Amino acid sequence: MGAYQALHHQHSQKPSSTHHGRVALAWLISAVLCLALLHLLCCSPRAAHDNVVVSSLLQYITSTYFQGTPLAQGSASSSSCDYSEGQWVRAAGHARRYNGTECNVKDSENCVRNGRPDTDYLDWRWQPAAPGCQLPGFDAAAFLGAVRGEHVAFVGDSMARNQAESLVCLLGASFPYHLVYRDPEPGTRKFWRWAFPTHNVTVSVYWAPFMVRATGRSENYSLLYNSVHLDALADRWSADAGTMDVAVVSTGHWFWNPSVYYNGSEVLGTHQLPQLNHTGIGFLSPYREAIRTSIRRLASAGRARAVVVATFSPAHFEKAWDDPETCVRKLPYTEGERDVDATHAQLRSIVREETAAAAARGGGATRVEVLDVTKLATMRPDGHPGVYMKRDPFARGVPERLQSDCLHFCLPGPVDTFNEILLQLLLAAKRE
Ligand SMILES: *[C@@H]1O[C@H](CO)[C@@H](O)[C@H](O)[C@H]1NC(C)=O
Ligand SMILES: *[C@@H]1O[C@H](CO)[C@@H](O)[C@H](O)[C@H]1NC(C)=O
Ligand SMILES: *[C@@H]1O[C@H](CO)[C@@H](O)[C@H](O)[C@H]1NC(C)=O
Ligand SMILES: *[C@@H]1O[C@H](CO)[C@@H](O)[C@H](O)[C@H]1NC(C)=O
Ligand SMILES: *[C@@H]1O[C@H](CO)[C@@H](O)[C@H](O)[C@H]1NC(C)=O
Repeated sequence: MGAYQALHHQHSQKPSSTHHGRVALAWLISAVLCLALLHLLCCSPRAAHDNVVVSSLLQYITSTYFQGTPLAQGSASSSSCDYSEGQWVRAAGHARRYNGTECNVKDSENCVRNGRPDTDYLDWRWQPAAPGCQLPGFDAAAFLGAVRGEHVAFVGDSMARNQAESLVCLLGASFPYHLVYRDPEPGTRKFWRWAFPTHNVTVSVYWAPFMVRATGRSENYSLLYNSVHLDALADRWSADAGTMDVAVVSTGHWFWNPSVYYNGSEVLGTHQLPQLNHTGIGFLSPYREAIRTSIRRLASAGRARAVVVATFSPAHFEKAWDDPETCVRKLPYTEGERDVDATHAQLRSIVREETAAAAARGGGATRVEVLDVTKLATMRPDGHPGVYMKRDPFARGVPERLQSDCLHFCLPGPVDTFNEILLQLLLAAKRE
């Protein structure tokens, strides 16, 4: 609970309006078809993981029966496409690419399994605003081809994990894979690694909520604040930095927490801790410092690599954090209905500036890029688990107080689009 409370400082937004109640017919049809197919091939659902043929067939069924749109829309995208601005447009089945149970997503993000009744949130694709730009649907073969023999690492907070799990599911819907390693606390999913043997690719996730070394609340939610050491990177990922060919950095939410910021033994200042009598320094400059040091570390390992830094993906708590209606919207915001918050825009600018500065410095073989998801994530209040972070939350009626997750995205869900953009960034890098 603390983890969510920690993140629930965020703003109240306009109350929700529309209430669509739609039956998940497509899911039912697919479930029946999948079961029939698996039965036919005498395979258990688990075995589908290890069987390319069955996986491909499943994907074929998926695309044929509930996708409505082709998997990819050709190679309309060019390396100069800007995906940061745009709007969500209806595309039946676009985000119905995998079954979160089969790829073992975190329970609290497995919205379909948890009984979320509406499925409209799976029927949108991101249309970039830039003229002539299309964002093709995710193409697992293209992704694995682009990172053949490589280690793709996601480093950061739980949004990094959310995106890593999305990628594993998107790839795993078409290719066999297995879990190579997970940390002894499976519930937390802080350090996991998967292998895709057909392409000798590993995907991993490193939990480092501040990127830099931090103790206190991030390790023990019953503590009041974090002690954040801006002069030292978090141990685990920085030790492995030299093995990362593609590093996706995604951080931000923990910087809103009460923290003491250090440079060595010197206290630089605090955020939201007036009682400690240090200078309040907010969280923007510490965030910039953490991003800058992380990029520097990744770009200095002398290995050909892509460093991709994601911008802030905001939460959508509209009411009190434990109000069962705090995020119940069932549709994306339409253009003009919602702007990027000023503070989120500042965090976004910091990433844009730091990646641009690093790219301008030139890192030899290293490409430093921004994965700008702030706008597209801002527009998706409907894509969070909400109360469906728990299984069948209304099984015993509607309680007055109920915890919601309005921060992470359902899997499948809008975070799959982050990986669609990541793929285009990687493909563009290969073309150059
Ligand atoms: C997802 O997979 C699980 C396990 O194989 C299965 O029980 C469930 O029906 C599937 N859900 C859908 C919507 O296909
Ligand atoms: C797999 O990739 C690693 C580098 O990540 C390389 O050392 C190894 O030789 C590759 N193995 C095969 C079978 O290609
Ligand atoms: C977390 O902090 C509390 C309060 O200081 C302490 O009692 C508890 O033992 C700590 N838990 C762990 C796992 O360290
Ligand atoms: C930390 O201190 C060193 C000198 O000891 C200085 O060069 C560096 O800029 C300081 N970093 C920050 C974030 O203040
Ligand atoms: C902060 O300053 C106040 C007022 O001078 C004082 O009462 C309090 O003890 C100080 N707190 C700390 C942690 O130094």
